Amino acid sequence: MTAGLDPVKVMKQEVGRAAASRVQSGTVVGLGTGSTTAFAIQFLGERLSSGELKDIKGVPTSFQASVLAKQYGIPLTTLDEIEKIDIAIDGADEVDPQKNLIKGGGAAHTREKLVDSLADLFIVVVDSSKLVDRLGSTFPLPLEVLPLAIAPVTRAVEKLGGQPALRMAVKKDGPVITDQGNMIIDVKFTAIDSPAELEKTLNNIPGVLDNGLFVGLADLILVGEVKDGQPSVREI
Ligand code: A5P
Repeated sequence: MTAGLDPVKVMKQEVGRAAASRVQSGTVVGLGTGSTTAFAIQFLGERLSSGELKDIKGVPTSFQASVLAKQYGIPLTTLDEIEKIDIAIDGADEVDPQKNLIKGGGAAHTREKLVDSLADLFIVVVDSSKLVDRLGSTFPLPLEVLPLAIAPVTRAVEKLGGQPALRMAVKKDGPVITDQGNMIIDVKFTAIDSPAELEKTLNNIPGVLDNGLFVGLADLILVGEVKDGQPSVREI
């Protein structure tokens, strides 16, 4: 690896390239959100402009994904226009050994879950720092919440044993506002023993749109690693 390059960036680039190389001509592609998927979108655009890839349509999971898709020349479509998504590529904040995920570090998990769950093949792109033995060990669980429901949802989450924190914006005063106009509560749980059960329990709180637990959705995890100074991509 070239000296001076940020190893995390290199891992993200390699894994983004590996995911983009799996996309075939004539398919509908779910375009995830985050810094790792951004590389996949860039490489998809490069494959299109070189002529190696033809006639794909992207379904963006966020403003970020649609801005990047336009920048790299990827035609976009919507869920109204298509019958199925062939492949989705998306990042994650944590991945457990059962391929369950925590997502939502970029506040996009509600649309991400919608798009990723419709894909025939959902590929997750991460660097090796995202692999955990148990979900919730390094990353709080994001909930997208209607603004008027912040107080009752906060109390409900505390009753479940979680420590909620309203996510505050950077370079804007006040809370983060999602692409849908809602807010994010990040919840720290001491342990997430049953992700499937917790996902349902949290989504059952009135005012919660969706939480960042993705259980049983990921088909393939591509993990970017750097070993002996050389980047590589491992499949789980
Ligand atoms: C967006 O809300 C998230 O789910 C991202 O997909 C996740 O945070 C991974 O982002 P990075 O690839 O930037 O780590």
